[in-house]
Amino acid sequence: MAEEQIQEQNGPMILADNLVKIYKTAELEVLALQGLDLTVEKGELLAIIGNSGSGKSTFLNMLGGLDTPSAGKLFVDGKNLFTMTEKQLVKYKRDTVGFVWQNNARNLLPYLSALENVMTPMHFSSEKQKKERALELLDLVGMSHKKTSRLNQLSGGEQQRIAIAIALANAPKLLLADEPTGSVDRKTADFILDVFRRLNRELGQTIVIVTHDVALSKQVQRVVAIRDGKFSSERVLKEHYSLNLDEAAANWQEDETQEEFAIIDRAGRVQIPRQLLDEAGVEGNKLRMGLVDGKIVLEKQ
Ligand SMILES: Nc1ncnc2c1ncn2[C@@H]1O[C@H](COP(=O)(O)OP(=O)(O)O)[C@@H](O)[C@H]1O
Ligand SMILES: [Mg+2]
Repeated sequence: MAEEQIQEQNGPMILADNLVKIYKTAELEVLALQGLDLTVEKGELLAIIGNSGSGKSTFLNMLGGLDTPSAGKLFVDGKNLFTMTEKQLVKYKRDTVGFVWQNNARNLLPYLSALENVMTPMHFSSEKQKKERALELLDLVGMSHKKTSRLNQLSGGEQQRIAIAIALANAPKLLLADEPTGSVDRKTADFILDVFRRLNRELGQTIVIVTHDVALSKQVQRVVAIRDGKFSSERVLKEHYSLNLDEAAANWQEDETQEEFAIIDRAGRVQIPRQLLDEAGVEGNKLRMGLVDGKIVLEKQ
């Protein structure tokens, strides 16, 4: 028992093991996730990037306890998501994860003030405690000055910041955001990302952001790319940028800030980007593969 607890404390925040999701409708079957493996450590800020329909939301919804897989395992903070009882799942959704959506209408109450919106989901017993915590969170997302404004008086970007404060209301261990900058302009998107980065750096908040915004994904420590329901590559911030996160901010758009690695799955499979195949003049579906000077070389037939 003691050993299990220690393992849990030192274990990763997320452990996804061969996750598969098949959506069945009357006419067809969609393979939304095709065996996802992922480990996210506590205190990481991870971005997941991929085209529309690649399976990003399906995965995030599973992490949020909103969907179940067709096969595979998923552990968050040491808890097995797919063996939970209904009651445990309700507790998990309330205490362990916080969720920010692209369209946050579903967790904002338009006729309440910003402050009341942040207080609503809290489960402290005293109003005083709720208010103190809500004010702290509004400060954290740079919205203290608008605390008495009604939600429908705020801009889209401001509402999104309130949505982040709401997601943090019960101090979740894991913050999930699905396309949080999907419907705001560049400047607002950068500001919102900055809120996430500060939360991560200053408070150690573990965060997973789904995005198709390449500029945004260049500014985080680690990005995994999902293609057709499978992680295909991973980018990691170069050391120089990790050390100078803020000073480097001005050059994000032009610079190659990250190193890219291909992901090898458990069966030894690697996805080769179409562009590389085209540039190498590969046609058909066969390649020669060999070891040359300690390097694995792929050659057209
Ligand atoms: N409830 C559903 N029923 C049937 N197919 C679905 C459902 N949800 C998602 N899909 C399909 O699964 C695939 C992945 O979808 P999704 O995870 O929403 O992608 P993304 O968020 O990357 O755009 C898509 O082909 C999508 O059409
Ligand atoms: Mg989506």
